[in-house]
Amino acid sequence: MAEDLLIAKGSKEEQYQSLVPQIKALIEGEPDLIANLANVTGALKEQFGWLWVGFYLVKPSYAKALESEKDELVLGPFQGPIACTRIKKGKGVCGTSWAKAETLIVPDVEKFPGHIACSSLSKSEIVVPIIHNDEVIAVLDVDSTEFNDFDETDKVYLEQIVSFLNFNS
Ligand code: SME
Repeated sequence: MAEDLLIAKGSKEEQYQSLVPQIKALIEGEPDLIANLANVTGALKEQFGWLWVGFYLVKPSYAKALESEKDELVLGPFQGPIACTRIKKGKGVCGTSWAKAETLIVPDVEKFPGHIACSSLSKSEIVVPIIHNDEVIAVLDVDSTEFNDFDETDKVYLEQIVSFLNFNS
């Protein structure tokens, strides 16, 4: 049964150190992937209060026009304002993180060529790819209303958090 999240105060590092074991415990007790993705977004949003926290999942394209575009990112569980539902590989921060299979930290979204503005309130962003059998299968996207809100600490802990997720379920 779910309990209230214990919200920590202190440095970003201290907040993650409190949050990460709670997320791990939440995920370990539940085999359903969508339930776990949903709770991860809720926990991150509740602890840090970011504008938007959510997952995009790699899924077959709606319009299979080109073999090279057979997959795209499709919106999954999230917390925050409504967002664009489909993102092609290489497009925006999410699609670029997918194409490069690496975490991207964007201090000022206006300066990221091709950034997809789902909300005009978003000022900085981090996107963490989720890799399974050497393929990106999803990304975690976090947006902030503050410039320069994400750094290596977020990268380390968010990568750790997504490593708890089991996409085979
Ligand atoms: N800004 C993202 C799009 C997703 S929204 O921020 C929720 C991007 O450029 O890929």
